This record gives sequence, C-alpha cells and structure tokens, in this order.
Amino acid sequence: MPQRPYVIDVMISAKTIAARIEELCDEIAQEFGDTDKLVVVGLLRGSFVFIADLVRELDLPIEVDFLEASSYGDGMESSREVRILKDLRGAIEGRDVLVVEDIVDTGHTLNHVTKLLESRKPARLKSIALLDKPSRREVDFRSDWIGFEIPDEFVVGYGIDFAQRNRNLPHIGKVRFTDEA
Ligand code: IMP
Ligand code: MG
Repeated sequence: MPQRPYVIDVMISAKTIAARIEELCDEIAQEFGDTDKLVVVGLLRGSFVFIADLVRELDLPIEVDFLEASSYGDGMESSREVRILKDLRGAIEGRDVLVVEDIVDTGHTLNHVTKLLESRKPARLKSIALLDKPSRREVDFRSDWIGFEIPDEFVVGYGIDFAQRNRNLPHIGKVRFTDEA
C-alpha cells in the first residue's frame, strides 16, 4: 500500500487510448500481415489490459504468451537489474514475435527482454509499448511502436499500478501527492 495520500488526474482518456490502438493495429497488420505464426507476448503484469485490447483489434492469426520480468517492486524507481520471474510457455525459434509492454521508462526491462528473446532466434521480433518516457532513458532502447510519449510523471491505470493499486482504472492517470505543498 502506498504510504502517502494521493489523487489521480486523468492524463489519457480511455477513448483516446482506443483510437490510438486502432492506428497501431493498422501498422502492425502491415508489418505482420504475411505471417501465419505471430506470437504476441505480454509482459506481466502491467500489459494485461493493453494486450487484451490490442489482440482484439488485430485481425491476424495469433497466439498469446506471457513473460514476467521483475522491475519496480513496490516503489517508484526502477531496480535496473532485470530478472525473469516467469518465462514463456512456448518456443519462439523461427516464429514472428511481438512483445507488448506497458511503459518504457529507463529502458532496462525491454532492452533485457528483447535481447533474451533474440537469443532464441525468432524469425522476426518487434516490440510495442503503450507509453514511453524518453526523458528517463538510461539505455539506448527504442520500441518499434509507441502509443504515447509522456513527460516524466508517475502514471497508473489501464493495467499500470502504483504498489499494485489502480490497475483497473480505464484511463491513464498521473499520481499527484496531496501532502506536498
Ligand atoms: P524500465 O525498465 O525502467 O523501462 O521500466 C519499465 C517498467 O517499470 C514498466 O514495465 C512498469 O512496470 C514500470 N514503470 C515505469 N514507469 C512507471 C510509472 O509511471 N508507473 C508505474 N509503473 C511504471
Ligand atoms: Mg512492467
């Protein structure tokens, strides 16, 4: 549980997210329209809402798999050391793979995960993140598709948590502490 009182201000509405997902899926369908073996890999837990909306908008033959990497713990800072807590169920050698992430912040998580998955020799590996905070980047990583670039704010909702709370908000909101002057 977060220790300090906070409120959540709307940053990106559910409607705006849905419209952006339609655009992104048009581009993804152009990239992967020729494949009959796309594996969509969601990074747990933050991407679970995004991947659910994404795959229902994608008119392609797909499989879904999940991978969990450690990141923030319950704090607001990245741990930088990325560990795999739950690996994929399926092999991806020779497959086309799309990795789905909630946010690229320092870049350590997606950088580590995409390198790991590349080592398994997929035919093609691309990544998509709903949100990107480029000003926070610590490693040279860029996702192939980004929903929205956002400033350096701590966000919640649409699958994204603050100490495991607020994942079920339908929009993206930013956390504002109310005990600050
Ligand atoms: P990175 O390894 O620093 O790029 O961090 C990526 C992960 O940190 C994301 O998958 C999120 O789980 C978490 N994260 C980054 N920024 C935020 C935020 O503003 N709110 C909640 N979680 C975040
Ligand atoms: Mg995450």
